[in-house]
Amino acid sequence: MQERKATGEKVSIKSRNSLFKKYVAKKEIEETIATIKAAGGDAMYVAGDVTNLTIKPELLKIEKQWGKITGIIHGAGRLADKLIQDKTEQIFDDVTSVKLDGLLNLLKMVNINELKHLIMFSSVAGFYGNVGQSDYAMANEILSTAAHLFSTNHPNTKVTAINWGAWEGGMVSPELQKMFEEAGVSLVNHPGGAARFVQELNGAYHNQPQVIIGGTLPAGISDISGDLKTHTIQRNLNLKENAFLQHHVIQGSPVLPMVNATAWMADSCVKLFPDYKLASIEEVKLFKGIVFDGTEKEAYFTKVEEKMKTTDSIVCEVSVYSKGAKLPLHHYRSTVTLSRKRTDAPKFQTPKLKENKIDGATFYRDGSLFHGAFYQGIEEVVAMDEEQVLLKCKAPAVSYEDQGQFPSTSLNAFFLDIQYQGMVVWVQKFHNGANSLPLQTSKGTVYGEISANESYYVHIKIKENTETKMIADCTVYDENEHVILFTEGAGLTVSQELVW
Ligand SMILES: NC(=O)c1ccc[n+]([C@@H]2O[C@H](COP(=O)([O-])OP(=O)(O)OC[C@H]3O[C@@H](n4cnc5c(N)ncnc54)[C@H](OP(=O)(O)O)[C@@H]3O)[C@@H](O)[C@H]2O)c1
Repeated sequence: MQERKATGEKVSIKSRNSLFKKYVAKKEIEETIATIKAAGGDAMYVAGDVTNLTIKPELLKIEKQWGKITGIIHGAGRLADKLIQDKTEQIFDDVTSVKLDGLLNLLKMVNINELKHLIMFSSVAGFYGNVGQSDYAMANEILSTAAHLFSTNHPNTKVTAINWGAWEGGMVSPELQKMFEEAGVSLVNHPGGAARFVQELNGAYHNQPQVIIGGTLPAGISDISGDLKTHTIQRNLNLKENAFLQHHVIQGSPVLPMVNATAWMADSCVKLFPDYKLASIEEVKLFKGIVFDGTEKEAYFTKVEEKMKTTDSIVCEVSVYSKGAKLPLHHYRSTVTLSRKRTDAPKFQTPKLKENKIDGATFYRDGSLFHGAFYQGIEEVVAMDEEQVLLKCKAPAVSYEDQGQFPSTSLNAFFLDIQYQGMVVWVQKFHNGANSLPLQTSKGTVYGEISANESYYVHIKIKENTETKMIADCTVYDENEHVILFTEGAGLTVSQELVW
């Protein structure tokens, strides 16, 4: 900097950074060569562009001095993160060429039949995908696939594409490092990463052409820059692909449970902002349920309107509609809040209740509840009086395949339905056998995930009770009395005429 200033040159931050990077790189190269030499090896540094290799003479010199080249470590890479719509052909070529033309060119420099090692630096971005890295992800995934192919065709070469997780330093800038740490992603440290790399050269790992080393990336890093946006997502639903609907049949027709619609709205937001977690869902309303009786539409639209977005939380209004003859037909609506970090779970103080246990299986057997096996989860009613119900519940494990287009991610919809069933049971007891169906929820606050096949307690406190409506607050908590989910104002519509 002093030298430059002395010449009278104006030094910009950009040129200062590039100068600094060059200086550090030079220093790193010198230190690496010194370390290799100190360990009894020898090394020579030749700079070249892998996309346009013109270093053949240097390679010949190396071969003359040390014999045939028997190993390649292909570590060159470039990033140019941008959303796919903002990528140019040039950017795409720059990012992919370093990895792919780079590999082909390096292979052209040697006799591939004499290669003992071929190690490629790929990335978890290729394995899992990553926002803004479509080109980089493709290039890395192709490297990984090439490793499998090369390994099959050259069984005597130790081939590995290391799908690195994020390292400390290198491409991972301090800002990115901070974001990873906030997202709970542990970074590969230098001694640890180097040791794992050496291990990969070991013959013991001969049969692993592709490995993942290091913490995985979060599913993606949300772009919260710019104006508030509205996203509309079309989903074509069909009965065949959603086996679980056969477990929620009312009057002969499969009906999408309100809770699955709630999870649908929540997940639509979480998928747009994958490094945020569902914190709460408010003002959940049912306007017109989706019944698979032949009148259902093929296409449904989820409209997600961003109302607020900060680095801590995002609020969206979500509605699900289909196209009507003239106007849209509204099905569900809610307000979803996502946050970077969930608040710690409060403790629930189980009230002292007079136990009056009923085996949950009886409700499904005697037809009090119409739910099929996937939604059967009341293990027992521990206690029930005019003001409250305490249940022990366990959601069955439903295979991913059977969950079809509605896999439970942020909310375990099966468990949510079971929680509502506790209210249905209460209504039957205190409303002369009347049936009821979920209609609305004022607010559900999420403190943790509800796992399948695990028992939880559900406490239902009745808040409002009329002939046609029942409203309650529900708390789902574990055996240590940690609250997992608190639902305020869960409302049911009550009817003596309603039959299953
Ligand atoms: N850092 C991570 O967290 C991470 C995670 C997963 C995978 N990886 C992979 O690991 C490798 C190294 O990453 P890094 O973090 O060390 O990145 P980096 O600091 O940006 O270094 C990339 C290196 O590639 C070289 N390079 C770029 N284009 C080249 C070309 N056309 N010909 C020859 N060399 C070229 C660069 O040389 P110049 O400096 O001379 O341009 C630089 O030395 C990359 O392949 C990357 O995809 C890294």
